[in-house]
Amino acid sequence: MDSLRIEGGRRLEGVIPVSGSKNAALPILCTSLLADGNHRFRNVPALRDVNTLGALLRELGLDVTIDGSTVEMVGRPVISPEAPYEHVKKMRASVLVLGPLVARYGRATISLPGGCAIGARPVDQHLMGLEAMGAEVELTHGNVHVKVPRGRLQGAEVIFDMTTVTGTENLMAAATLAEGTTTLVNAAREPEVEELALVLNKMGASIQGAGTSVITIDGRESLNAVDHAIAADRIEAGTFMVAAAATGGDVLVDGVSFDTLHSVVDAMRAAGVNIEREGTGIRVSGTPPFEPVSLATAPYPRFPTDMQAQFMMLMCLARGTSRITETIFENRFMHVGELNRMGADIQINGNTASVRGPTTFEGAPVMATDLRASASLVVAGLVAGGVTEIRRVYHLDRGYEKIEEKLARVGAKVERIRGDA
Ligand code: EPU
Repeated sequence: MDSLRIEGGRRLEGVIPVSGSKNAALPILCTSLLADGNHRFRNVPALRDVNTLGALLRELGLDVTIDGSTVEMVGRPVISPEAPYEHVKKMRASVLVLGPLVARYGRATISLPGGCAIGARPVDQHLMGLEAMGAEVELTHGNVHVKVPRGRLQGAEVIFDMTTVTGTENLMAAATLAEGTTTLVNAAREPEVEELALVLNKMGASIQGAGTSVITIDGRESLNAVDHAIAADRIEAGTFMVAAAATGGDVLVDGVSFDTLHSVVDAMRAAGVNIEREGTGIRVSGTPPFEPVSLATAPYPRFPTDMQAQFMMLMCLARGTSRITETIFENRFMHVGELNRMGADIQINGNTASVRGPTTFEGAPVMATDLRASASLVVAGLVAGGVTEIRRVYHLDRGYEKIEEKLARVGAKVERIRGDA
């Protein structure tokens, strides 16, 4: 297994380009199941999760060609609308094929995604919505079988019990081919939901309200193929913003929309980090120690759970105590033990972490079992004295394209050590 070897203590300086968004790309690639023809997606990040989804879509019968950041797909009737365990177990987001399959073929079987490192993560809301639209759902032997007795989903009002990003995406995609109008209430407002709606509308769908908590979809008989460039990854950008500030650096994080990062910008500014819009990017500079800032994660537009680990790392460099509460996932503090091994003073009480700083980080061999936890360890490694070895880099490869190259270009000393697996 590969690892990253980081010699810390260097300021980051220069420009870091932001790649296409993982969490936008995954649902958008699944739209190819909704329409025949040649689909083309550009600015798709080269990530393990994208390859995993590509393999699943191929297995379903689509022609999938991945060439750098361009993914071409030939949509055609699928061989069999079944997503087997071997794919779903690799990536929970495989559940995003469910809505399109049920909408187009009136049936689908998908292996039930289990829990994952960051929490139990059930899909009951996805299923509740499909049932409201006339589907029958049966769970047997770890599989979800969904069948639409009338053949076609029926428009319905779906009220989510909690905000779910992929749940909203799945049902929005499903409703594009339903008969009649569907209203999603308490929908997720994430920019990735909005971008998916944009793509579906380009395909001929009629979706209004994406980006607000009420989305209305008028069903269509059919959709057409699409060409779309994926927007930049706000979480990758936020991670580099934290890395720039934590190292006392000065970096232009380039090619990302400032407007999708307000909550992160506000929190970092409150900590004393300088952040300005500049051209097509965001300039970030900082000088630790920072001011402590307490916050809680929450659905967009509030502070993203996907930035919690990285922001906690930044708070280790603050003079004083900050409290960070995780409200989305029940087990998303896997970075805490590892950060403490590197010298941090973080205590967990329920879903709140108390972070006492400032920490003088020391390099150590570390590993994490979740993407964003691993990202926070990379930032700690960049700051730490001595050498940090991040093991299990495959978690990072799920969500950060060429992270070592991007960091090396702005002055970090980081290299990938190839393992044998
Ligand atoms: N939930 C349910 N039932 C459901 C759906 C969700 O109880 O049917 C719960 C979850 O267990 C969780 C909460 O609702 O406690 C929110 O989960 P959500 O469904 O919003 O998460 P997701 O759609 O599975 C996406 C991102 C995650 C990101 C979350 C929250 C994708 C592919 N994944 O997951 O990204 O953390 O939204 O913003 O879009 C990451 O990139 O590192 C990552 C984990």
